[in-house]
Amino acid sequence: MHEKIIEIAVRRGFLYPSFEIYGGLSGFYDYGPLGALLKKNIEDLWRNYFCLQEGFLEISSPTISPEEIFIASGHTGNFTDPIVKCTKCGNFFRADHLLQSYDIEAEGLNSDKIDHLIKERNIKCPDCSGSLGKVKTFNLMFKTYISPGKGKVGYLRPETAQSMFILFTRLYNFYRRKLPFGVAQIGRAYRNEISPRQGLIRLREFTQAEVEIFIDPRNNNHTKFQQYAEEKVRLLPRDRDDTIEITARESVDLGIVAHEFLSYYIVHTKNFLLACGIPEEKLRFRQHLLEEMAHYARDCWDAEIYTRQFGWIEVVGIADRTDYDLRAHEKGSGTELKAFREYVKPEIVREIKIEPLMNKLGPAFKSKAGDIAEKIRNLSPEETGDEIKIELEGDVYTISREYFCIKETKKKITGEKFNPHVIEPSFGIDRIFYSILETSYIERDGKNILRISPALAPMKVSIFPLVKKEPLPEIALDISDRIKRKSIFTYYDENDSIGRRYARSDEVGIPYSITIDFDGVESKTVTLRDRDTTEQVRIKTDKVPAFIKKLVDGDLKFRDIKEAH
Ligand code: ATP
Ligand code: GLY
Repeated sequence: MHEKIIEIAVRRGFLYPSFEIYGGLSGFYDYGPLGALLKKNIEDLWRNYFCLQEGFLEISSPTISPEEIFIASGHTGNFTDPIVKCTKCGNFFRADHLLQSYDIEAEGLNSDKIDHLIKERNIKCPDCSGSLGKVKTFNLMFKTYISPGKGKVGYLRPETAQSMFILFTRLYNFYRRKLPFGVAQIGRAYRNEISPRQGLIRLREFTQAEVEIFIDPRNNNHTKFQQYAEEKVRLLPRDRDDTIEITARESVDLGIVAHEFLSYYIVHTKNFLLACGIPEEKLRFRQHLLEEMAHYARDCWDAEIYTRQFGWIEVVGIADRTDYDLRAHEKGSGTELKAFREYVKPEIVREIKIEPLMNKLGPAFKSKAGDIAEKIRNLSPEETGDEIKIELEGDVYTISREYFCIKETKKKITGEKFNPHVIEPSFGIDRIFYSILETSYIERDGKNILRISPALAPMKVSIFPLVKKEPLPEIALDISDRIKRKSIFTYYDENDSIGRRYARSDEVGIPYSITIDFDGVESKTVTLRDRDTTEQVRIKTDKVPAFIKKLVDGDLKFRDIKEAH
């Protein structure tokens, strides 16, 4: 199946293997003209769901960052996969995946345990059957040097998330210092995957779409939870072998999903993936095993899509990252990254302070009086008795009670500072792209069809003059122009039989086509064809642009279009 999809995708301009004329390199793909359009449409739909509908805005940050960021975040130490090298052919393999290919559970095991299992099961190199060396850990980040010479060590980002944590205070101010708020980013991420052999599923450079939602952990109820509370989701909790289908509310009430925020984003993610055209029965949410969790996460649910080629694949990770990241960057940078939580009722606290009496200290201690006063101020009231000893430049001064007094004041405290927690839905756009191609593919009468949803299809409508004879091409080009004025991509084709043109159009997922024939010249009508049913309806030519726009926006169903005479 994968070969079939990739064959169509490459032949029809969706994808090209990168650096092909130099022999290619696994883990990299170019998006061709149709692929780039489809990818952009997926990203725009994502923006609609995760920015527009949620009231979150997008930022765009550098993809290269100095080393300090990833030391603080824990990536230099923890962002590793187990690697093993064949002692005969020298090829590298991801050691846990190698075990999994023999149906041996290895998720989250450390290198020593994996090494032990490889030896115990006598697993050999899959390429040459040679003996495998010792399992080691391999950091997935691409290292580089910023500025010439020895320069400063930097890394290509392995996730878009970090810059949103570093910018916390600026973003908190932008959102007028109110929680919760969310920040989104769509951009490239880089991971030096050990031996990527799964095409778009495991790339070394890929596109992530991530939202970081900063919340007050004392209030993890989502204000819009009600909207999704009764929606069903298919969950695979970590302590079960089978999926369960329950409502979002049940998932929280039964303690399966930790809180409303996580549950809300599970349902929102489901709805986005359904809008991408992923069939509901091919979608589930799997909770991470404890040993599988990323170093920063407390809980994580992966949206997984069932593909015929690879089985269940993770396309989205929805994680509760707690305050891990903000605390880590506070420590790393020495800069506070906190929000302010107002108390319902201000607290009044008593403060006891020692106050030096300058009118007494001055005459008695002359030039030393200022320094002695400063030292007195820094003492805590518990350290004082009727007299105190102050050391100054090697001399000890005894200060009796007549030189200071103890004062009690009341202070109004309106709230407290804290590190917000982060909920993060993290999407892999390339994996969604592949899943859309695979799940939309069908064969009809021996022909390939991609049933990509009208909202995502790269081209929305094909325009076919029945024959290359005026006035048909002229009318067809005029219709095409009028549709394009509505910001809709059209595909004009006047060569070959109409059957072959339909086949070409269906194979790249164009949902509608318009044929201009001689019968329609007089009546000013054309036929509109639906890719999925192959049904055709004759409509007035001047209605075409408005109909197409409504069909693409989902405001009109093809079956509701009435025949015009
Ligand atoms: P996997 O376990 O498959 O390696 P992951 O758990 O490392 O994935 P995350 O770190 O959670 O993935 O990354 C968030 C999202 O980014 C994933 O859900 C996936 O869609 C995408 N992603 C991660 N690594 C890759 C990759 N090498 N190629 C393409 N997409 C990726
Ligand atoms: N930001 C989540 C991840 O890339 O793992």
